[in-house]
Amino acid sequence: MLPHHAKSGNSNPHWVTHGARVVFVDDELSHSKFHCLGRIFMAGLDKHTVEVGELFSPRPVSRVVNAGLRRPDSRKSIPRPDGLLLLDKNENTDPELKAWLDRVQTRISAVSLSTYPDLGPLYSELSNWLGIPVDQLVLTTGSDGAIQRTFEMFVEPNDAVLLTQPTFAMYQVYANSFGARVHCLEYERTESAPKLDLNRILTAIEELHPRLFCLPNPDSPTGNVLSLTDLDQVIRACGSAGTVLLIDEAYHPFTPITAIPFVASNPHVLIARTFSKAWGLAGLRTGYLVGHPETIEWFHRTRPMYEIGEYANAFLSVAIREHAEMTASVERLTAGKIFFAESMTSLGFEMLASGGNFQHVAFGDSASRIHSALRPFALYRADSDFDCLRGFSRFSSTTRDLFSPIVNVISDCGG
Ligand SMILES: Cc1ncc(COP(=O)(O)O)c(C=O)c1O
Repeated sequence: MLPHHAKSGNSNPHWVTHGARVVFVDDELSHSKFHCLGRIFMAGLDKHTVEVGELFSPRPVSRVVNAGLRRPDSRKSIPRPDGLLLLDKNENTDPELKAWLDRVQTRISAVSLSTYPDLGPLYSELSNWLGIPVDQLVLTTGSDGAIQRTFEMFVEPNDAVLLTQPTFAMYQVYANSFGARVHCLEYERTESAPKLDLNRILTAIEELHPRLFCLPNPDSPTGNVLSLTDLDQVIRACGSAGTVLLIDEAYHPFTPITAIPFVASNPHVLIARTFSKAWGLAGLRTGYLVGHPETIEWFHRTRPMYEIGEYANAFLSVAIREHAEMTASVERLTAGKIFFAESMTSLGFEMLASGGNFQHVAFGDSASRIHSALRPFALYRADSDFDCLRGFSRFSSTTRDLFSPIVNVISDCGG
């Protein structure tokens, strides 16, 4: 039986689905009207309809079907209330940085919106600023894009991939959608901060021989930082095990440590960087990978038509030339971070060390009172889903001026 609306006379010809079939409904149906469509079945369902074929629901490749992935629906809006200080996603909320970004914006012509990019000059700017040859760089759509491209490049179904846990959520998503066997190194809860013992990392690499090890440094949300000496050992272990090591430096330079000097002599090491955090450009969706020229060449051979758009290209070309603005903002945010940590400690709350532009505080018995009092002022992560951080609230860093009212509200609630 056809649905009622498909059978009734209808002056607007239209397609309807009927079970697994597609049906065309038209009051003035005639065979000649459809002969050009091919594969038409004049099924004679009734005088107003014609069946035009089976619905074909394509199935993606098995690694995607098997992953059973669910992601938050980006077609549904989850607005963040106006007027609140946004300390929930580790964005840069520094007003002086924003004023600079506003000024940069006025120098970008609308032509950037109507033209395709020429990225050569931006590659040169970036290479000069970083002090590394241009053949060690590839631009990406945020560090998220850098991570996705690394999986695309190196991970085949059933490959072992080593991740930290907890870490940036997209690692698990890409590992699943590329059909990897995921092994997690869980952070342990300690008094000062969640920790991952170096020997456990080295043993996992030696025993598992993973195809890829993803290591954010600093990690998120734990804030854990590996020293250069530790990184050196991890890089060597990965080299011996045949493991590609992706070091995610999304939070550079909130922690100034960088593994970039290692890449020239270690083709198995890649560094992912972003303009989303320190530069305050999360909306621009831009980042880059740094690696050995031979490794980076694979990314250029398989790059999309343009790695990033012309608006982002024009914006970054100016911004990188004026990188001192970003450095000054990182200093203001770091001062704010220290101020917040000292204030919380003096109120008697436990703080965890973090190398990122965020930190964790445990409000203990005062938690629900403080969360209610802060609700009209700021958005932040009230609690964590992970054992190593349970009971801790996460605040992205902001300036001392913007933190002050937050500290006052917390202080009024009593330490
Ligand atoms: C460790 C880490 N890596 C990567 C990202 C992704 O950043 P983006 O895609 O904005 O560059 C984030 C975002 O929070 C992160 O915490």
